[in-house]
Amino acid sequence: MSTTSSLKPSATNPATRPEMTASLIANVDSKAEQIWHLLKDACEALPRISFANSFSAEDMVLTDIILRKALPISLFSLDTGRLPVETYDLMARVEAHYQTKLTLYFPQHISVEDYVKTHGINAFYDSIDLRKACCFMRKVEPLQRALAGQDAWVTGMRAAQASTRASLPVREYDEGNKLEKFNPLSDWTEQEVWAYVHKHTVPYNQLHEQFYPSIGCAPCTRPIAMGEDVRAGRWWWEDPLNKECGLHVNK
Ligand code: ADX
Ligand code: SF4
Repeated sequence: MSTTSSLKPSATNPATRPEMTASLIANVDSKAEQIWHLLKDACEALPRISFANSFSAEDMVLTDIILRKALPISLFSLDTGRLPVETYDLMARVEAHYQTKLTLYFPQHISVEDYVKTHGINAFYDSIDLRKACCFMRKVEPLQRALAGQDAWVTGMRAAQASTRASLPVREYDEGNKLEKFNPLSDWTEQEVWAYVHKHTVPYNQLHEQFYPSIGCAPCTRPIAMGEDVRAGRWWWEDPLNKECGLHVNK
């Protein structure tokens, strides 16, 4: 199975550099303002809200809005232990840029030790069941701990990212985790995300420029070709209709 490091192209992904026209900037300003209102109102109604920050370009837009506007929303991230080095580099830059300390949730070490001993270090390539078990232990279980006691959580998902997200609402009830869920960027385009990032000089993951529009764990993410679906590089060996890790199954 190929890993990410041998596949990095050298050109810069043009999708990360949209032309900053006046109408694009005005549109993004207005959408960012709407998000601020949405989250401010949510904070007034729901005292404990957390934002799940994966450090994607989308999540960096929300990080910037929440921290610069000092919204009372706590941020957390799931450190699976298999993230790309570029994501850790971004974490350090975020701490310096926003003068903050990150809150990271790690998997239970006994689960990881058992999984690796039983199935092998890269067993997620061997079957969908083993891939889902790895995602459960490294992401879903830590997410459940992160959300315990919260009234709502915020994600950076966009409807246009995948067929599985096409009808993503801005607000929904997360039946699985039993709390409200906000997806404020649901109707944002990739172009709008990048326009916000550049306009506000938001730090971002260098892998995005190397054709990684969607970044997860290093062994399960690879760059995409021009014109491919933005999530084509995630678990690329699996059926696109099946490509969710379990963080966002609303059942
Ligand atoms: S995933 O389900 O395929 O991994 P994706 O990477 O598209 O999800 O991210 C969707 C949203 O899930 C992010 O905007 C973020 O809110 C949340 N999320 C995903 N991975 C993490 C992570 N490692 N830490 C915190 N939140 C995450
Ligand atoms: Fe494991 Fe890959 Fe899921 Fe990361 S994305 S938790 S390495 S299966």
